[in-house]
Amino acid sequence: MTSSPAGGEVSVTRLSSESGGLDEVDGVALSAFDHPQFSVREELSRPWSRSWVARRGGDAVAFVIAWHVADEIHVLNVATLPAARRQGLARLLMQEVFAYAREHQARLLLLEVRRSNAAALWLYRGLGFHTLSVRVGYYGDNGEDAIEMIAVLDQTTGELLPGKDEVPFPC
Ligand SMILES: CC(C)(COP(=O)(O)OP(=O)(O)OC[C@H]1O[C@@H](n2cnc3c(N)ncnc32)[C@H](O)[C@@H]1OP(=O)(O)O)[C@@H](O)C(=O)NCCC(=O)NCCS
Repeated sequence: MTSSPAGGEVSVTRLSSESGGLDEVDGVALSAFDHPQFSVREELSRPWSRSWVARRGGDAVAFVIAWHVADEIHVLNVATLPAARRQGLARLLMQEVFAYAREHQARLLLLEVRRSNAAALWLYRGLGFHTLSVRVGYYGDNGEDAIEMIAVLDQTTGELLPGKDEVPFPC
């Protein structure tokens, strides 16, 4: 898929463990997270792992990793290079995850996000996620709470179903 968000044309492709440029995707993770806790190669070795990369001018600028288990898609990680943020790249990748979910008749999309991560909370909010619960002290590095978020799809039509926040938003 190609798209033209702010900043110029971007291609989005699904990754496999045979894909080229996996080290480059790890490089995006390294730039995006203080403590990257995964390698995309390791992630892709799991049969239930799905990942997409956004490239601009051939260079990896953002990626997303999700697990597909039964009728659920669990979004583990989405990250954009700091210099490429606020150009619609994470939204584009998440839209790809929604398209995958619809294609495979998934019912739920789930994720956890740090309570302090306003950028991510608003990203997910804009895509139709609602808050489901607070996981107190979920993150081992600093004891921060996780906000669990959910989006529910109609399995027949793929339509995003209306939901409500179980935890007040913004959190
Ligand atoms: C969160 C993150 C992935 C967003 O990536 P991005 O490519 O900049 O996001 P997008 O440009 O697609 O933004 C989509 C929407 O998200 C929200 N958003 C993104 N960054 C935001 C910010 N800094 N403050 C508030 N809202 C923000 C906005 O609603 C935005 O839409 P708008 O620009 O039309 O207002 C990026 O900031 C990042 O890599 N952070 C570090 C890694 C991380 O925390 N990942 C999430 C783990 S749960």
